[in-house]
Amino acid sequence: MVFQVLSSLLLALTAARASSALLPRVDVPAPFNSSLFKDFNVSRGLNYHYYAVPADTGKPTLLFLHGFPSTSYDWRHQVAFFQDKGYGLLVPDMLGYGGTSKPLDPQLYVSSLITKDIIDILDAESIEQVVVIGHDWGSKIASRLANYFPERFLAYAFLVVGYTTPDFFATPFEEKLRLDKLVLGYQRFAYWDFMASEGADQFILDHLDSFWNVTYTNDTTHSITADPLAVLAAFNSTEATPADYITPEERAIQLEAIRQGGIAAPLNWYKIARGTLEMQDDKGIPQENALICSPIFFGAALRDYITGSAPIFLAGALVASNSTATIREYNSDHWLQQALPDQVNGDLLEWIEGLDLDLGGVYQYH
Ligand SMILES: *[C@@H]1O[C@H](CO)[C@@H](O)[C@H](O)[C@H]1NC(C)=O
Ligand SMILES: *[C@@H]1O[C@H](CO)[C@@H](O)[C@H](O)[C@H]1NC(C)=O
Ligand SMILES: *[C@@H]1O[C@H](CO)[C@@H](O)[C@H](O)[C@H]1NC(C)=O
Ligand SMILES: *[C@@H]1O[C@H](CO)[C@@H](O)[C@H](O)[C@H]1NC(C)=O
Ligand SMILES: *[C@@H]1O[C@H](CO)[C@@H](O)[C@H](O)[C@H]1NC(C)=O
Ligand SMILES: *[C@@H]1O[C@H](CO)[C@@H](O)[C@H](O)[C@H]1NC(C)=O
Repeated sequence: MVFQVLSSLLLALTAARASSALLPRVDVPAPFNSSLFKDFNVSRGLNYHYYAVPADTGKPTLLFLHGFPSTSYDWRHQVAFFQDKGYGLLVPDMLGYGGTSKPLDPQLYVSSLITKDIIDILDAESIEQVVVIGHDWGSKIASRLANYFPERFLAYAFLVVGYTTPDFFATPFEEKLRLDKLVLGYQRFAYWDFMASEGADQFILDHLDSFWNVTYTNDTTHSITADPLAVLAAFNSTEATPADYITPEERAIQLEAIRQGGIAAPLNWYKIARGTLEMQDDKGIPQENALICSPIFFGAALRDYITGSAPIFLAGALVASNSTATIREYNSDHWLQQALPDQVNGDLLEWIEGLDLDLGGVYQYH
């Protein structure tokens, strides 16, 4: 079985290479249907590779946004669950990953530009409004979609990383570290320093196996018992056991995606946050959109010590008085949607069904 999956993956990779010399991509096995992947040139001339399932009448479309260091494959358990229920799905490889363009200029990664790319995709699909579900850096983009394009979203789900307020990046990096040390006793974001440093991409590729094991470690106390920067810088020699909810086949697919695409482009997500690019960009957020006026779901991962999920981000969740927040806590590490797919899928489904969404006229295209 392992070899079957891997060899079909390799065949798909070879085919993809032949058809597109410029964009390496990892076509993925079930539950993704390879004929439903699309490529679209957004208005700023970058290619987005995404998975698109049309919605059945009366069902909304769900937009899933992954984080670092991943691809749309992070959402395989949600794709399997929701596509069988008639929900529309849009699951892009985010900028820098998978089959999507991988520019090396960090300036191209700021939220005002990436949110516009996402809106270009909605326009190309003739979809007026969607429910967005973000994880990790994908939650930042879900937040900025609420800030820049609230009229296009029915509701927002944030997994692990909560609503990232317009002023979140206004606090300089060093000050963030100082405050975290004071409040939490450790510096959650110290590893951003490593991620944003010169040569981090090559270092990671040179120690990819260890990097992956540390990133998906089964023992998340690593990240608080040691300085996160030290943990990451030492991953060339760290003995970490990866979590068991990712199968060897899945691990092979994730590693291959990183090998194919490299990690230099994805690290730009950290560079803009460690430096001042995101801070500058966020100054353009319309203040009146700082409050989210649509329903939100927050899935907190109680064993993710880096994003410090629940307490920190909930404090920042500015929700208008007419909006509702549904909060669920999980005994999970950072990779919530992969670690506890059944619970997460069930809770998201219950939340979405309970929203009583007004889809009037909007889905005439499907
Ligand atoms: C994949 O999608 C295509 C296009 O919608 C469809 O014809 C085909 O039956 C699907 N394959 C599977 C295995 O569901
Ligand atoms: C994408 O669109 C831009 C113009 O917006 C064009 O210059 C570029 O050639 C297009 N790229 C591809 C791959 O089609
Ligand atoms: C990473 O984990 C895999 C799977 O448990 C293991 O086979 C491999 O030796 C580990 N690599 C390192 C460098 O720890
Ligand atoms: C991690 O995996 C190792 C090896 O299977 C095991 O000995 C250890 O107890 C696990 N740790 C946690 C926190 O689950
Ligand atoms: C691991 O990385 C650290 C930090 O860059 C370096 O000091 C150390 O020599 C490296 N160890 C190995 C075994 O490569
Ligand atoms: C909440 O109020 C805002 C601003 O008045 C409005 O735009 C939005 O539609 C309202 N949302 C709901 C769910 O009633």
